[in-house]
Amino acid sequence: MRSSYCGVLDSTFIDKEVTLCGWVDRRRDHGGVIFIDLRDREGVVQVVFDPDAKEDFERADKVRSEYVLQVTGKVRARAPETVNKNMPTGEIEVYGTALKILNVAETPPFPLDEHQSVGEDVRLRYRYLDLRRSEMQRILRLRSRVTTAVRNYLHNQGFIDIETPILTRATPEGARDYLVPSRTHAGKFFALPQSPQLFKQLLMVSGFDRYYQIAKCFRDEDLRADRQPEFTQIDIETSFLDENQIMAINEDMIRHLFAEIKGVQFGDFPRITYAEAMAKYGSDKPDLRIPLELVDVKDLMTEVEFKVFSGPAKDPKGRVTVMKVPGGNDKLTRKQIDDYTKFVSIYGAKGLAYIKVNDLSDLENGLQSPIVKFLPTEVRKAILERVEAENGDLLFFGADKAKIVSEALGALRNKLGEDLDLYTCEWAPLWVVDFPMFEEDDDGSLSALHHPFTAPSCSAEELRANPPAALSRAYDLVLNGTELGGGSVRIHDQKMQQAVFDVLSISAEEQREKFGFLLDALKYGAPPHGGLAFGLDRLIMWMTGAHSIRDVIAFPKTQTAADLMTDAPGGVDPEQLRELHIRTRLEEKPKD
Ligand code: AMO
Ligand code: AMP
Repeated sequence: MRSSYCGVLDSTFIDKEVTLCGWVDRRRDHGGVIFIDLRDREGVVQVVFDPDAKEDFERADKVRSEYVLQVTGKVRARAPETVNKNMPTGEIEVYGTALKILNVAETPPFPLDEHQSVGEDVRLRYRYLDLRRSEMQRILRLRSRVTTAVRNYLHNQGFIDIETPILTRATPEGARDYLVPSRTHAGKFFALPQSPQLFKQLLMVSGFDRYYQIAKCFRDEDLRADRQPEFTQIDIETSFLDENQIMAINEDMIRHLFAEIKGVQFGDFPRITYAEAMAKYGSDKPDLRIPLELVDVKDLMTEVEFKVFSGPAKDPKGRVTVMKVPGGNDKLTRKQIDDYTKFVSIYGAKGLAYIKVNDLSDLENGLQSPIVKFLPTEVRKAILERVEAENGDLLFFGADKAKIVSEALGALRNKLGEDLDLYTCEWAPLWVVDFPMFEEDDDGSLSALHHPFTAPSCSAEELRANPPAALSRAYDLVLNGTELGGGSVRIHDQKMQQAVFDVLSISAEEQREKFGFLLDALKYGAPPHGGLAFGLDRLIMWMTGAHSIRDVIAFPKTQTAADLMTDAPGGVDPEQLRELHIRTRLEEKPKD
């Protein structure tokens, strides 16, 4: 039907006849001459019809936005004063000689060019129209380039693409499962995979050695700007490689992707331990573009009169820390500090003490602060020395349980980075390593920080002797404060797996019931293995600069996990429920 895409036409086509197919982006009538901007996936070109074209001109007069046309015409240079430098095809236009209306269109519910003012709900309801916008086309095409580059890279490294089931059993990744009732097994349910974790380990037992999959994962969890209930992982597993080798391959893949897609060259990714990340940045996914650090002052505070500080200072689980904002005195008003105090309260912080360093040489009157009166001079001096304060700096304090302080000041660090535009570079990838095996829940019980198949870096005996101290052979790849991917070397030894289950108080029955097939597989010659998974959607967010994960997914769900276009999830007819052996417990809606 067509000889060329609209968006690729340029001066090399001058005097050639072309046939184009596309949508009417805009139609203008300029005193007897009709201009149609015709759009297809490659871009927009201006087509001109004058009355010489007779019936075609009359048809051109009738077309409206988003009509689908087939246009034939000759490419010609635009007059110098009408050249449009902002348009890739702006040096030329098509002098139309034939026009066929392939389909008409109703007026779209929102303008497809000025999307900014359009509410997201409308965009999602008419997603097929939203996707016509050039921004969405750009994002989804970049996404396709990335998956192609990933496949090529992994194929060249000897990885084999293998699909794993969607109807399966629960995978322990820590989120709630999506369940699918079975018709043929009354009262039983499949779970949709939270990740292909167990299957990829089984593929290593089967000897495939290097597996990958661009895999759909399903997690029924609270949604945020970078989380969807249904998302995609670049999922990888390998045999006979240690963590350094696994990290090296994956680091190289990410480097390769950024070079190919973004033209950005990354050097070696720094590695920091989990302990260091929490100490310095209050987060296990620190944004290293921001030059702010936390400096602990717990040891200086044990004897001060100010209970807010001395309490956590004496508590083994407490933390007292300072974050210095260089030159912050002038940058932050009292009102902003109050706003930040509210901000940290979201994370459970009970306050946000601060000191404005006006004059270092005068420890009595040179420090402006609601708390300095509670601190003896030598403590003031020691704090200022430790954080290497200079006149004009602002110091923020956090004091509480370590978890609260780290979360609150870690989040404040990110917020200050953004609000004050403190970024020192555009990209900051890094590995975080040496995670603890377990984290303590509020009730004192332990749960796996990664998942229960992650290998510890100690022996089974050491693990049993002091579980909270055990470190794991897990690693996370962090980019600009986002956890882009994570993985680990797995347990391939049954005794070790048993030790981990015991520490997690997973009973023998539960082990059998949930992962019996994996435990069996470990008995039949499981190779040492390990892998990792990247969040493809998050990767695309960074590569495209999208602010929401919904913008990088063709048909995403809303924050309440619904699809406004198809109206899913939806009701089903009673007969279907009966077949599935299900009776709902919803009470009848009260009449209003
Ligand atoms: P993990 O649970 O860390 O590891 O997930 C890996 C990566 O997937 C992305 N991700 C998400 N992206 C969008 N929406 C979500 N709801 C969501 N949840 C996770 C993140 C994350 O880093 N099986 C292990 C990997 C392994 O050990 O090999 C796993 O799934 O970018
Ligand atoms: P208060 O004595 O509660 O009025 O607090 C005095 C100052 O200490 C105020 O600036 C509070 O914001 C701050 N503050 C209170 N609790 C904490 C805390 N847990 N961590 C840091 N600062 C705090």
